[in-house]
Amino acid sequence: MENKTMFMIFSSIMILLSFSHPTLAKEGDNDKQVLILDDEFDAMIARSPTAEDYNENVGRKYSKKQKEYLLNCSIKMDIPDPDKCIEEVLAEIIQNKSASRDCCLGIVKAGKECHMEYMKLIFQIYQLKRFTSKRFSKTNEIWKRCSTGIGAVSPYSG
Ligand SMILES: *[C@@H]1O[C@H](CO)[C@@H](O)[C@H](O)[C@H]1NC(C)=O
Ligand SMILES: *[C@@H]1O[C@H](CO)[C@@H](O)[C@H](O)[C@H]1NC(C)=O
Repeated sequence: MENKTMFMIFSSIMILLSFSHPTLAKEGDNDKQVLILDDEFDAMIARSPTAEDYNENVGRKYSKKQKEYLLNCSIKMDIPDPDKCIEEVLAEIIQNKSASRDCCLGIVKAGKECHMEYMKLIFQIYQLKRFTSKRFSKTNEIWKRCSTGIGAVSPYSG
């Protein structure tokens, strides 16, 4: 059972990383500092046996309790499309885009502890290893923006 739960959580993240998403394509060009280019992003999310083995191992290291906790968190978010929210959080980490207001509301509803645990998981996946140094700053940045700046302009709104 717990493996199925973890599979659900993990597969959402993996699926997101395995395909190009139109919403991850860069719109406009007002960011002075592009973190990575879109073709680089495609290369980064490409599936590989190395990545899959690595990510499976990350999943195996999670205890039953940790998996259950994460599942509870996704329920507490109480949003119609948690996958989209994960996608937006990834874009925020990787491409410095802002997650939507709905996604932010979900993150805030689930609470800071849940946010921190999810970010911890996300930063352990193979494809995000190169961003490890951003874990703490991005975790704080997203939480702060979502909990205080719900009204901020977002590329996902509308
Ligand atoms: C990311 O976006 C924020 C808010 O738009 C901005 O303040 C920050 O400088 C950006 N960082 C990078 C590295 O582009
Ligand atoms: C998950 O939620 C259920 C139901 O609310 C609760 O009984 C359980 O203790 C929670 N598990 C964890 C690990 O938080």
